[in-house]
Amino acid sequence: MNCVPISLGDRSYEMQIGSGILKEMLGDITDRAMFVVDDKVMPLLGDKITVGSGQGLLTMFASEMNKTMPSVEKIWDAMLDAGLDRSSSLVAIGGGIVGDVGGFAAATYMRGVPLIQVPTTLLAMVDASIGGKTGVNTKRSRNDGTAILGKNLAGAFWQPKKVIADVQMLQSLDTRQLRCGLAECVKHAMLGNAELLTFIETNASAILACDLEVLERLVFQSASIKAKVVSRDEREGGERALLNLGHTFAHAMEPMPELGLLHGEAVSIGLVAAASCSEALGMVSDGFVDRIRALLAKLGLPIRMQAELPALDFISMMQFDKKNQDGQMRLVLPEGECGATISSNVDLATITLALRSVGAS
Ligand code: GLY
Repeated sequence: MNCVPISLGDRSYEMQIGSGILKEMLGDITDRAMFVVDDKVMPLLGDKITVGSGQGLLTMFASEMNKTMPSVEKIWDAMLDAGLDRSSSLVAIGGGIVGDVGGFAAATYMRGVPLIQVPTTLLAMVDASIGGKTGVNTKRSRNDGTAILGKNLAGAFWQPKKVIADVQMLQSLDTRQLRCGLAECVKHAMLGNAELLTFIETNASAILACDLEVLERLVFQSASIKAKVVSRDEREGGERALLNLGHTFAHAMEPMPELGLLHGEAVSIGLVAAASCSEALGMVSDGFVDRIRALLAKLGLPIRMQAELPALDFISMMQFDKKNQDGQMRLVLPEGECGATISSNVDLATITLALRSVGAS
């Protein structure tokens, strides 16, 4: 088993990563608790989960449309019905949506109860479960007035007490979902870890075949990168914003129903768009965008949108990004061989060019 420390003073915690560790680790949770479980994961848990006295279980249909306040209220109600008080824990078992919604319910139930994150998707293991970001989507509208989701626009920082990642769970994960997690791993590698970039390039087939040893190393390396950034900048005052590489573009694409993109797929296209911006601005060497494109394609991730939508539609959405300050759009852009920087003065022509390079009109 591997352990990744997240060092945040009195809010420090550890992420345990292993293969076949879930039954024992869930069995150790004997205090009063509410288990919030993704309904697709529930049948896979079998005897790994036992709900004891003073504990409750609620399953959740995990979709972006469902990542809203009514889902949080359902969790609060279930906790009240189970008689859980402020000393009880919430255990979120599932992908990023369950972790974010469950995490926000934990942050707010009786003004905050302990949270244990049990990510079961690669994306949640390497990203969503670490660092305490919790939240829900809000309602927004597009330029033409149609309803659309505002991604993660309401939420709270609420660090878990522990994160438990069992890579065996990835063997029953839908390949499309596995690929989504790989987009976040590539993102972490692009943030300054050339070794991880090479590891993913070399082991792409073993990763997609769900080789447990390779997956454990991948999760450990990728989670370690995120843990270090979070430990240095918990509240995204600076460096942590770099973890949003590709996400300003992705958050604009993901809610567009015509594109049918999952979060990690949108991130994959967003990484290409961000790298294209850097290329246009002379911030990366020739061949960098092609290397990233080739790697994402090798992993089976999209590198272009399948429907042609106006670049301006995406730009309007990008103006609501949480990183923006004083009305100025701030983009995370790759820089040098393996690194990134936050740029607040990218002109609209360059952003439009980058969006067109991934299929916008
Ligand atoms: N997923 C980006 C962050 O946790 O900061």
